[in-house]
Amino acid sequence: MAPWRLPLLAVALLWGWLLASSSSSPSTVAPPRDLRITDPGLLGSLDVEWKPPPHSQTFQECTVKYKLEYHSTGDRDWKVIFTRKLKLRVGFDLSRTAEVRLQTLLRGRCTGDVEVQSDWIYATFQISPQGKLESEVQNFNCIYHDWEYLKCTWQPGLLTPPGVHYGLYYWYEGLEQAVQCAHYIQEQGLNLGCVLHNLSQAEYQDLHICVNGSAAATLLRPLYSTLRLHNLAQPSAPEQLELSVSGAQELRAAWSPPGGRVPPHCLEYEVQVAEDAGQAAAAWAFVSTQMETDVTISRANQSHVSCVRVRGRTNIFCADQGFWSEWTQDCFSVPRKEDKQLFILIPVILSLSISLIIFMLIGQCKKRSPAGKPLHTSVGF
Ligand SMILES: *[C@@H]1O[C@H](CO)[C@@H](O)[C@H](O)[C@H]1NC(C)=O
Ligand SMILES: *[C@@H]1O[C@H](CO)[C@@H](O)[C@H](O)[C@H]1NC(C)=O
Ligand SMILES: *[C@@H]1O[C@H](CO)[C@@H](O)[C@H](O)[C@H]1NC(C)=O
Repeated sequence: MAPWRLPLLAVALLWGWLLASSSSSPSTVAPPRDLRITDPGLLGSLDVEWKPPPHSQTFQECTVKYKLEYHSTGDRDWKVIFTRKLKLRVGFDLSRTAEVRLQTLLRGRCTGDVEVQSDWIYATFQISPQGKLESEVQNFNCIYHDWEYLKCTWQPGLLTPPGVHYGLYYWYEGLEQAVQCAHYIQEQGLNLGCVLHNLSQAEYQDLHICVNGSAAATLLRPLYSTLRLHNLAQPSAPEQLELSVSGAQELRAAWSPPGGRVPPHCLEYEVQVAEDAGQAAAAWAFVSTQMETDVTISRANQSHVSCVRVRGRTNIFCADQGFWSEWTQDCFSVPRKEDKQLFILIPVILSLSISLIIFMLIGQCKKRSPAGKPLHTSVGF
């Protein structure tokens, strides 16, 4: 064999091996089977189950994985999970339709280390609609106060049968089953709110809530909501606001984060200033939004009184959104130059006038004392 033929032979052998191996490796894989969504009664957490594709045991030296994508109808994005399991529990907003799609992924020596994807299979889930839409409660709102308790409120639906009774149920990962509210806020015997304590375990995960109701024989349309506590937080007002003047032109304000469970590194503050307490209400001017707990404000106006107010909110490092606290406010009187002169003058004028009065009184008494005697005796009778 001529030496120049050797490379040619090698190429031919390689080609043959490639052909042989590709014919034995699957270039397609079947999708999973029997995709099902079931409701374990956890107000939004649904069980998604499926069976492996047929003949999946025959893929030797290859791993079968699944790509699950899911969302509630109307969401733009799909959430994605890669898994080898055949059952997952995922969270949905039950007020909308849950949508799931699933495909098989095959990869390993049997595919020449190339990932092979199957077609998608689809499933949807919707809780059976109950009651008329207008019977659903309105204006459902929740605030997580100081990271200590969640207060939710609502108003009766447009269609409210007499004798209606509302209930709030909640569930988060870690609870065995949905739990009913223990502290309702009532108005005229009607449950129109709920206060939930001890939710630290539910922070930074989905908290599923359902407000449902019934009246005699009629069922009302339940309201489903999925909350993220850290996005509903409202801190208390900042504490110990102190103002001082440093230099002629600068006002320094310092305060402390509110107490309670609020992590101080999770707060930002808005500072406003107003000159003259009398008109303060109308004249607040923005100074800054900041994470530090002090600020120096230049007093360009050299005004007599400066008022500062500060409020707090969760910052973007801890949450996507939050509620502002109440304001903490304090005012500081800066003595003016004219005032200083006045301060020296006032005691001088006062002491002068007092001594003048005393002198006059003494003079009067001396004059009156002889004439005073007859008056005294007449009183004696
Ligand atoms: C919170 O939970 C603790 C124990 O986990 C319990 O002792 C306490 O009473 C609970 N507080 C409220 C307000 O339910
Ligand atoms: C309200 O929802 C809870 C939790 O799903 C359920 O146990 C309860 O029976 C429902 N009540 C009504 C009146 O539908
Ligand atoms: C200072 O005075 C000017 C004009 O009177 C006013 O526009 C401005 O808001 C004042 N600054 C502060 C911090 O109040």
